[in-house]
Amino acid sequence: MTANQTHRPAIHVRGLEKSYKKLEVLRGVDFDVARGSIFALLGSNGAGKATVVKILSTLLKADAGTASVNGFGVATHAADVRDSISLTGQFAAVDEILSGRENLVLIAHLRHLKDPGTIADDLLERFALTDAAARKVSTYSGGMRRRLDIAMSLIGNPQIIFLDEPTTGLDPQARIEVWQAVKEFAEHGTTVLLTTQDLDEAEQLADRVAILHQGRIIVNGTLTELKQLLPPAKVEYVEKQPTLEDVFFAIVGDDGKDGDARATAAASVRSSKEQR
Ligand SMILES: Nc1ncnc2c1ncn2[C@@H]1O[C@H](COP(=O)(O)OP(=O)(O)O)[C@@H](O)[C@H]1O
Ligand SMILES: [Mg+2]
Repeated sequence: MTANQTHRPAIHVRGLEKSYKKLEVLRGVDFDVARGSIFALLGSNGAGKATVVKILSTLLKADAGTASVNGFGVATHAADVRDSISLTGQFAAVDEILSGRENLVLIAHLRHLKDPGTIADDLLERFALTDAAARKVSTYSGGMRRRLDIAMSLIGNPQIIFLDEPTTGLDPQARIEVWQAVKEFAEHGTTVLLTTQDLDEAEQLADRVAILHQGRIIVNGTLTELKQLLPPAKVEYVEKQPTLEDVFFAIVGDDGKDGDARATAAASVRSSKEQR
Protein backbone atom coordinates (compact mmCIF):
# COMPACT_ATOMS: atom_id res chain seq x y z
CA MET A 1 0.00 0.00 0.00
CA THR A 2 1.32 3.49 -0.77
CA ALA A 3 1.48 6.20 1.86
CA ASN A 4 -1.12 8.03 -0.13
CA GLN A 5 -3.65 5.26 0.32
CA THR A 6 -3.35 5.14 4.10
CA HIS A 7 -4.65 8.71 4.32
CA ARG A 8 -7.58 8.10 2.05
CA PRO A 9 -10.82 6.61 3.27
CA ALA A 10 -11.09 2.85 2.77
CA ILE A 11 -14.20 3.42 0.68
CA HIS A 12 -15.10 6.60 -1.18
CA VAL A 13 -18.40 6.90 -3.07
CA ARG A 14 -19.65 9.93 -5.01
CA GLY A 15 -22.75 10.42 -7.10
CA LEU A 16 -23.42 6.74 -7.62
CA GLU A 17 -26.39 6.03 -9.88
CA LYS A 18 -27.88 2.73 -10.97
CA SER A 19 -31.14 1.78 -12.66
CA TYR A 20 -32.51 -1.60 -13.59
CA LYS A 21 -34.36 -0.70 -16.77
CA LYS A 22 -36.90 1.94 -15.64
CA LEU A 23 -36.35 1.30 -11.93
CA GLU A 24 -34.03 3.99 -10.53
CA VAL A 25 -32.47 2.30 -7.53
CA LEU A 26 -29.51 4.59 -6.79
CA ARG A 27 -29.98 8.27 -7.58
CA GLY A 28 -26.74 9.86 -6.41
CA VAL A 29 -25.23 8.03 -3.45
CA ASP A 30 -22.34 9.65 -1.56
CA PHE A 31 -20.44 8.36 1.46
CA ASP A 32 -16.96 7.60 2.81
CA VAL A 33 -15.86 4.82 5.12
CA ALA A 34 -12.82 5.50 7.31
CA ARG A 35 -10.15 2.84 7.58
CA GLY A 36 -10.63 0.45 10.47
CA SER A 37 -14.22 1.51 11.12
CA ILE A 38 -17.54 -0.32 10.95
CA PHE A 39 -19.98 1.49 8.68
CA ALA A 40 -23.62 0.43 8.50
CA LEU A 41 -25.67 1.11 5.40
CA LEU A 42 -29.17 0.95 6.75
CA GLY A 43 -32.28 0.73 4.60
CA SER A 44 -35.57 -1.07 4.10
CA ASN A 45 -35.95 -4.13 1.92
CA GLY A 46 -35.39 -3.04 -1.70
CA ALA A 47 -33.65 0.23 -0.79
CA GLY A 48 -30.62 -0.67 -2.93
CA LYS A 49 -28.13 -1.84 -0.28
CA ALA A 50 -27.08 -4.95 -2.19
CA THR A 51 -26.79 -2.87 -5.35
CA VAL A 52 -24.26 -0.59 -3.62
CA VAL A 53 -22.30 -3.60 -2.34
CA LYS A 54 -22.28 -5.24 -5.78
CA ILE A 55 -20.93 -2.07 -7.39
CA LEU A 56 -18.24 -1.68 -4.71
CA SER A 57 -17.18 -5.31 -5.06
CA THR A 58 -16.98 -4.96 -8.88
CA LEU A 59 -19.83 -7.40 -9.57
CA LEU A 60 -21.98 -4.70 -11.14
CA LYS A 61 -21.22 -1.50 -13.08
CA ALA A 62 -22.69 1.82 -11.99
CA ASP A 63 -24.47 3.99 -14.57
CA ALA A 64 -22.84 7.16 -13.19
CA GLY A 65 -20.67 8.36 -10.35
CA THR A 66 -17.35 7.19 -8.94
CA ALA A 67 -16.33 4.75 -6.24
CA SER A 68 -12.96 3.70 -4.92
CA VAL A 69 -12.11 0.89 -2.54
CA ASN A 70 -8.71 0.78 -0.85
CA GLY A 71 -7.72 3.66 -3.13
CA PHE A 72 -8.58 1.78 -6.33
CA GLY A 73 -11.34 2.84 -8.71
CA VAL A 74 -13.94 0.08 -8.98
CA ALA A 75 -14.39 0.74 -12.70
CA THR A 76 -10.70 1.16 -13.58
CA HIS A 77 -8.88 -1.18 -11.15
CA ALA A 78 -11.31 -4.02 -10.57
CA ALA A 79 -8.62 -6.66 -9.95
CA ASP A 80 -6.92 -4.51 -7.27
CA VAL A 81 -10.28 -3.90 -5.64
CA ARG A 82 -11.01 -7.62 -5.57
CA ASP A 83 -7.61 -8.30 -3.98
CA SER A 84 -8.45 -5.82 -1.20
CA ILE A 85 -11.88 -7.09 -0.21
CA SER A 86 -13.99 -10.01 0.80
CA LEU A 87 -17.71 -10.28 0.30
CA THR A 88 -20.17 -12.21 2.40
CA GLY A 89 -23.53 -12.18 0.73
CA GLN A 90 -27.02 -12.35 2.09
CA PHE A 91 -27.08 -16.08 1.33
CA ALA A 92 -24.33 -18.20 2.84
CA ALA A 93 -21.93 -19.65 0.29
CA VAL A 94 -20.69 -22.62 2.30
CA ASP A 95 -20.53 -26.15 0.90
CA GLU A 96 -23.07 -28.34 2.74
CA ILE A 97 -21.38 -31.65 1.97
CA LEU A 98 -18.06 -30.66 3.50
CA SER A 99 -17.30 -30.19 7.17
CA GLY A 100 -16.71 -26.71 8.54
CA ARG A 101 -12.98 -27.36 8.68
CA GLU A 102 -12.90 -28.74 5.14
CA ASN A 103 -14.64 -25.62 3.83
CA LEU A 104 -11.98 -23.42 5.43
CA VAL A 105 -9.08 -25.59 4.26
CA LEU A 106 -10.48 -25.54 0.74
CA ILE A 107 -10.61 -21.75 0.58
CA ALA A 108 -7.11 -21.43 2.06
CA HIS A 109 -5.86 -23.82 -0.65
CA LEU A 110 -7.65 -21.86 -3.37
CA ARG A 111 -5.94 -18.70 -2.14
CA HIS A 112 -2.55 -20.49 -2.26
CA LEU A 113 -1.87 -19.86 1.42
CA LYS A 114 0.73 -21.73 3.45
CA ASP A 115 -0.52 -24.20 6.03
CA PRO A 116 -4.27 -24.24 5.35
CA GLY A 117 -4.87 -26.58 8.32
CA THR A 118 -3.52 -24.08 10.83
CA ILE A 119 -5.45 -21.23 9.22
CA ALA A 120 -8.64 -23.32 9.44
CA ASP A 121 -8.06 -24.27 13.07
CA ASP A 122 -7.39 -20.66 14.10
CA LEU A 123 -10.59 -19.45 12.45
CA LEU A 124 -12.65 -22.30 13.93
CA GLU A 125 -11.40 -21.23 17.33
CA ARG A 126 -12.11 -17.52 16.75
CA PHE A 127 -15.65 -18.23 15.59
CA ALA A 128 -16.45 -20.78 18.31
CA LEU A 129 -16.77 -23.61 15.80
CA THR A 130 -14.02 -25.92 17.07
CA ASP A 131 -16.46 -28.45 18.52
CA ALA A 132 -18.36 -28.59 15.23
CA ALA A 133 -15.24 -28.55 13.02
CA ALA A 134 -15.55 -32.13 11.77
CA ARG A 135 -19.32 -32.08 11.25
CA LYS A 136 -20.89 -31.64 7.84
CA VAL A 137 -22.21 -28.13 7.34
CA SER A 138 -25.62 -29.62 6.51
CA THR A 139 -25.99 -30.30 10.26
CA TYR A 140 -25.13 -26.70 11.27
CA SER A 141 -27.63 -24.17 12.58
CA GLY A 142 -28.22 -20.95 10.63
CA GLY A 143 -25.97 -19.01 12.98
CA MET A 144 -23.15 -21.54 12.67
CA ARG A 145 -23.34 -21.41 8.87
CA ARG A 146 -23.25 -17.66 8.82
CA ARG A 147 -20.28 -17.65 11.21
CA LEU A 148 -18.48 -20.14 8.99
CA ASP A 149 -19.28 -18.02 5.95
CA ILE A 150 -17.79 -14.96 7.65
CA ALA A 151 -14.76 -16.99 8.77
CA MET A 152 -14.24 -18.09 5.15
CA SER A 153 -14.36 -14.50 4.00
CA LEU A 154 -11.53 -13.61 6.40
CA ILE A 155 -9.07 -16.08 4.88
CA GLY A 156 -6.17 -14.17 3.37
CA ASN A 157 -6.77 -11.19 5.69
CA PRO A 158 -8.69 -8.86 3.39
CA GLN A 159 -8.38 -5.21 4.39
CA ILE A 160 -12.02 -4.45 3.73
CA ILE A 161 -14.98 -6.71 4.36
CA PHE A 162 -18.46 -6.34 2.91
CA LEU A 163 -21.18 -8.01 4.90
CA ASP A 164 -24.47 -7.84 3.04
CA GLU A 165 -27.32 -8.37 5.51
CA PRO A 166 -25.27 -10.82 7.59
CA THR A 167 -28.09 -11.62 10.01
CA THR A 168 -31.21 -11.39 7.84
CA GLY A 169 -33.25 -14.54 8.51
CA LEU A 170 -31.36 -15.57 11.64
CA ASP A 171 -32.99 -16.16 15.00
CA PRO A 172 -32.09 -13.76 17.85
CA GLN A 173 -29.47 -16.05 19.42
CA ALA A 174 -27.71 -16.65 16.09
CA ARG A 175 -27.83 -12.93 15.40
CA ILE A 176 -25.99 -12.20 18.66
CA GLU A 177 -23.38 -14.82 17.77
CA VAL A 178 -22.76 -13.16 14.41
CA TRP A 179 -22.52 -9.75 16.09
CA GLN A 180 -19.87 -11.10 18.44
CA ALA A 181 -17.94 -12.46 15.48
CA VAL A 182 -18.09 -9.12 13.64
CA LYS A 183 -16.99 -7.18 16.74
CA GLU A 184 -14.13 -9.63 17.18
CA PHE A 185 -12.59 -9.12 13.77
CA ALA A 186 -13.31 -5.41 13.67
CA GLU A 187 -11.09 -5.08 16.74
CA HIS A 188 -8.22 -6.30 14.57
CA GLY A 189 -8.44 -3.15 12.40
CA THR A 190 -10.39 -4.53 9.46
CA THR A 191 -12.70 -2.04 7.73
CA VAL A 192 -16.28 -3.31 7.61
CA LEU A 193 -19.12 -2.14 5.40
CA LEU A 194 -22.24 -3.78 6.69
CA THR A 195 -25.69 -3.54 5.18
CA THR A 196 -28.71 -4.14 7.33
CA GLN A 197 -32.44 -3.59 7.66
CA ASP A 198 -32.04 -4.04 11.36
CA LEU A 199 -31.83 -0.91 13.48
CA ASP A 200 -30.56 -2.86 16.49
CA GLU A 201 -27.79 -4.30 14.42
CA ALA A 202 -26.60 -0.90 13.24
CA GLU A 203 -26.81 0.37 16.80
CA GLN A 204 -24.87 -2.61 18.17
CA LEU A 205 -22.07 -2.69 15.64
CA ALA A 206 -21.53 0.49 13.71
CA ASP A 207 -19.24 3.45 14.31
CA ARG A 208 -21.22 5.32 11.64
CA VAL A 209 -24.65 4.77 10.19
CA ALA A 210 -25.95 5.99 6.84
CA ILE A 211 -29.60 5.61 5.88
CA LEU A 212 -30.24 4.76 2.22
CA HIS A 213 -33.74 5.84 1.24
CA GLN A 214 -35.28 6.45 -2.17
CA GLY A 215 -31.95 6.20 -3.91
CA ARG A 216 -29.96 8.57 -1.72
CA ILE A 217 -28.17 8.73 1.61
CA ILE A 218 -30.53 10.87 3.64
CA VAL A 219 -28.51 10.92 6.86
CA ASN A 220 -24.99 9.87 7.72
CA GLY A 221 -23.41 10.20 11.14
CA THR A 222 -22.24 8.54 14.32
CA LEU A 223 -24.93 7.09 16.54
CA THR A 224 -24.47 10.04 18.87
CA GLU A 225 -24.91 12.49 16.00
CA LEU A 226 -28.03 10.69 14.74
CA LYS A 227 -29.53 10.67 18.20
CA GLN A 228 -28.94 14.41 18.46
CA LEU A 229 -31.34 14.86 15.52
CA LEU A 230 -34.10 14.21 18.02
CA PRO A 231 -34.30 15.92 21.40
CA PRO A 232 -34.14 13.53 24.35
CA ALA A 233 -37.53 12.69 25.86
CA LYS A 234 -37.70 13.72 29.48
CA VAL A 235 -39.34 11.12 31.69
CA GLU A 236 -39.55 12.39 35.24
CA TYR A 237 -35.95 12.79 36.38
CA VAL A 238 -34.41 10.35 33.92
CA GLU A 239 -33.24 11.63 30.55
CA LYS A 240 -34.08 9.03 27.90
CA GLN A 241 -32.05 9.19 24.69
CA PRO A 242 -33.96 8.46 21.48
CA THR A 243 -33.18 5.07 19.99
CA LEU A 244 -31.93 4.72 16.44
CA GLU A 245 -35.43 3.47 15.66
CA ASP A 246 -36.92 6.80 16.75
CA VAL A 247 -34.42 8.61 14.54
CA PHE A 248 -35.02 6.29 11.58
CA PHE A 249 -38.78 6.72 11.56
CA ALA A 250 -38.55 10.45 12.16
CA ILE A 251 -36.35 10.74 9.08
CA VAL A 252 -37.83 8.14 6.77
CA GLY A 253 -41.44 8.58 7.84
CA ASP A 254 -43.84 5.72 8.47
CA ASP A 255 -45.00 5.10 4.92
CA GLY A 256 -41.61 5.57 3.26
CA LYS A 257 -43.31 7.00 0.16
CA ASP A 258 -42.76 10.73 0.61
CA GLY A 259 -41.38 12.59 -2.36
CA ASP A 260 -38.73 14.56 -0.54
CA ALA A 261 -37.20 12.64 2.30
CA ARG A 262 -35.08 15.53 3.53
CA ALA A 263 -38.11 17.75 3.91
CA THR A 264 -39.87 14.92 5.72
CA ALA A 265 -36.93 14.52 8.05
CA ALA A 266 -36.82 18.21 8.82
CA ALA A 267 -40.58 18.30 9.34
CA SER A 268 -40.50 15.25 11.59
CA VAL A 269 -37.71 16.65 13.70
CA ARG A 270 -39.58 19.98 13.94
CA SER A 271 -42.88 18.39 14.83
CA SER A 272 -41.30 16.16 17.44
CA LYS A 273 -39.76 19.25 18.99
CA GLU A 274 -43.12 21.00 19.00
CA GLN A 275 -44.77 18.03 20.65
CA ARG A 276 -42.34 18.13 23.53
N1 LIG B 1 -30.88 -7.63 -11.41
C1 LIG B 1 -31.98 -6.89 -11.14
N2 LIG B 1 -32.90 -6.63 -12.10
C2 LIG B 1 -33.98 -5.88 -11.82
N3 LIG B 1 -34.25 -5.34 -10.62
C3 LIG B 1 -33.38 -5.57 -9.62
C4 LIG B 1 -32.19 -6.36 -9.83
N4 LIG B 1 -31.51 -6.41 -8.66
C5 LIG B 1 -32.22 -5.69 -7.78
N5 LIG B 1 -33.34 -5.18 -8.34
C6 LIG B 1 -34.34 -4.32 -7.67
O1 LIG B 1 -33.65 -3.18 -7.22
C7 LIG B 1 -34.12 -2.76 -5.95
C8 LIG B 1 -32.97 -2.75 -4.97
O2 LIG B 1 -32.52 -4.06 -4.75
P1 LIG B 1 -31.38 -4.41 -3.71
O3 LIG B 1 -30.17 -3.61 -4.05
O4 LIG B 1 -31.25 -5.88 -3.65
O5 LIG B 1 -32.01 -3.84 -2.36
P2 LIG B 1 -31.74 -4.23 -0.81
O6 LIG B 1 -30.49 -5.04 -0.75
O7 LIG B 1 -31.64 -2.91 -0.11
O8 LIG B 1 -32.95 -5.00 -0.35
C9 LIG B 1 -35.24 -3.73 -5.59
O9 LIG B 1 -36.45 -3.14 -5.97
C10 LIG B 1 -34.93 -4.95 -6.42
O10 LIG B 1 -36.11 -5.66 -6.71
MG1 LIG C 1 -30.40 -6.98 0.20
